[in-house]
Amino acid sequence: MKKVLHIISSPRTDASVSRKLGNAIVGEIKKKYPEITLKERDLSKNLIPHLEETHVTSFFSPAESRTTEQEKINTYSEKLISELQEADIIVVDSPIYNFSITSSLKAYIDHVSRAGYTFSYSEKGPEGLLNNKKLYLAVSSGSIFSKGVYQANDFNVPYLKALFSFFGVNDTSVFRAEGLAMPGIMENALEKGIESIVID
Ligand SMILES: Cc1cc2nc3c(=O)[nH]c(=O)nc-3n(C[C@H](O)[C@H](O)[C@H](O)COP(=O)(O)O)c2cc1C
Repeated sequence: MKKVLHIISSPRTDASVSRKLGNAIVGEIKKKYPEITLKERDLSKNLIPHLEETHVTSFFSPAESRTTEQEKINTYSEKLISELQEADIIVVDSPIYNFSITSSLKAYIDHVSRAGYTFSYSEKGPEGLLNNKKLYLAVSSGSIFSKGVYQANDFNVPYLKALFSFFGVNDTSVFRAEGLAMPGIMENALEKGIESIVID
C-alpha cells in the first residue's frame, strides 16, 4: 500500500492548471499502484501562516519549557511534517509565480523545514531525514521554462529540487503545463503536460 501526499499550492481551484496536472499524476499513480492512501494538503484551504517571531521562537524552544501557545505552534508544524514522513510518494502542484513558488508553498516549507525532523546537521554537514521517497512536481506557467531564454529564470523547479534533496528526497520527476499565456501553445499545454506523465 503506497501512501501518497498531494500538496496543492495554487490559490485557484477549478481554473487551476497545476491542480489538474497534479490530479492527473495522482491518477497515473493509482493506475500503477491500485491500492494507495491519498492525503491532500490543499494550501488554498486552511492557510498556513507566514512565520512570525512566535513561530520561530516555538521551533527553537525545548519541549519542556514551551508555553501553551508555543506547544500549539509546534504541534501544528509536527502534524505537517508527519504527513511528509509517512508518505512514500509526494506530489507537489507548483505554479510559477514571479519566477518562483507561491507564497503559500513557501509558508508551508517554512513550517516543515526543521532540524531534527526533515534534516539534521553533524560535523559532516547537513543530512536529509526524509529518505526513500519519490517526488513528482506538477508545474504550470504562462511562459516556457523547460528550454530557451527563460530557462535560467526558473527559480521554482531548481529550488524545489534543491530543497527536497536537502530533506533526502533525490528521486524527482517534473511534469510541466507551460506556455499557458502563449497563443498557439496555451491551447494544448495542459494536454501535453498530462501526456508526458510517466510513473516510475
Ligand atoms: C501572481 C502571479 C504571478 C505569475 N508569475 C508568472 C511568472 O513569473 N512566469 C510565468 O510564466 N507565469 C507566471 N504566472 C502565470 C501562472 O504561472 C499560470 O497562470 C499558472 O497556470 C498558474 O497556476 P494555476 O493554473 O495552477 O493557478 C503568474 C501568475 C500569477 C497569478
